[in-house]
Amino acid sequence: MTKETKRVLMTGAAGQIGSELARALRAKYGDANVVVTDLFRPSGDLAEGGPFELVDVTDAKAVDAIIGKYGIDTVYHLAALLSATGEKNPQKAWHVNMSGLYNVLEAARARNLVRVFSPSSIAVFGPTTPREMTPQDTVLGPTTMYGVTKVAGELLCDYYVLKYGLDVRGCRYPGIISHLTLPGGGTTDYAVAIFYDAVKHGRYTCFLREDTRLPMMYMPDCLKCTLDLMDADFARLRHHSNFNVTAMSFSAGELAAEIRKHMPGFEVRYEPDFRQAIADSWPASIDDRAARTEWDWKPDYDVAAMTADMLAALTKRRDDGTLGA
Ligand code: NAD
Ligand code: SER
Repeated sequence: MTKETKRVLMTGAAGQIGSELARALRAKYGDANVVVTDLFRPSGDLAEGGPFELVDVTDAKAVDAIIGKYGIDTVYHLAALLSATGEKNPQKAWHVNMSGLYNVLEAARARNLVRVFSPSSIAVFGPTTPREMTPQDTVLGPTTMYGVTKVAGELLCDYYVLKYGLDVRGCRYPGIISHLTLPGGGTTDYAVAIFYDAVKHGRYTCFLREDTRLPMMYMPDCLKCTLDLMDADFARLRHHSNFNVTAMSFSAGELAAEIRKHMPGFEVRYEPDFRQAIADSWPASIDDRAARTEWDWKPDYDVAAMTADMLAALTKRRDDGTLGA
């Protein structure tokens, strides 16, 4: 029997995913029941539409205190440093990603919380992993510090499930594409930046090679995936914190071609940088049958539907004057 969520805490809520997941959770549980936290105060309704607090997840006392203060029963732990940022400062990536997760899990264990969500990533895989239709249970072997923290994080989450019976869940998000909040320093960020530059300038310089193919997902599917996994019947789950999930795979060149169907004059140059090596170590496509079997995961958006929606949303923001220079 799955226990009910009533009061939610979100860490890292000002980021690309948190800023939209927070709104979805407020719509689901009520504004007053979703406590949004980050290292900095975001502008607008994210901080003003419900409880907001500054919380550094590396501070164990602060994490525990905020859970106690608001009578939290469920945590969505999104605070992390992503792959590209992590390679620039691996020591900080280890500290934020591992101490942050440990502090959340310990507070959740001590206070007997109902449930914790901790996202993992396709970054758990590495150069020795099968690249096409990467299986659920396979060789991991990441070569980035971000990937190392995500593998260790999955193991830590599963340990809390096994040892303490804490209900911890997570999926290996692929690259997430969205038009509200810019991504915070990942290798898949090009698949967001390309849309902004297409709409603003009609051209884009890509930091990955044209033939680099990676798994991706549009934000509405990311939100659905997260909420559905958290609502799933615990008794059906054979995996807990490491579900493969995907919606589409494309190369940078294929995405540019899809954008050209709407903007025939769109130009892209390819100037790979250090992120190319990270992308080359990740899967091109993902087998997510475990998620489909254990909690009925199914995406709604393919590359054509996502591209049309991204261009429409960003064109509207450009015309409204809210897209920036
Ligand atoms: P993001 O970089 O956009 O946001 C992360 C947020 O964490 C930021 O607002 C940042 O201020 C905050 N943060 C950083 N250090 C902190 C600290 N010490 N204390 C509190 N907050 C801190 O990231 P995102 O894309 O929203 O990712 C959210 C989660 O999803 C992360 O765990 C990430 O690894 C995972 N994920 C994201 C993607 C993606 O494509 N966006 C893909 C796979 C996995
Ligand atoms: N989008 C993320 C990154 O590129 C994958 O976890 O870092």
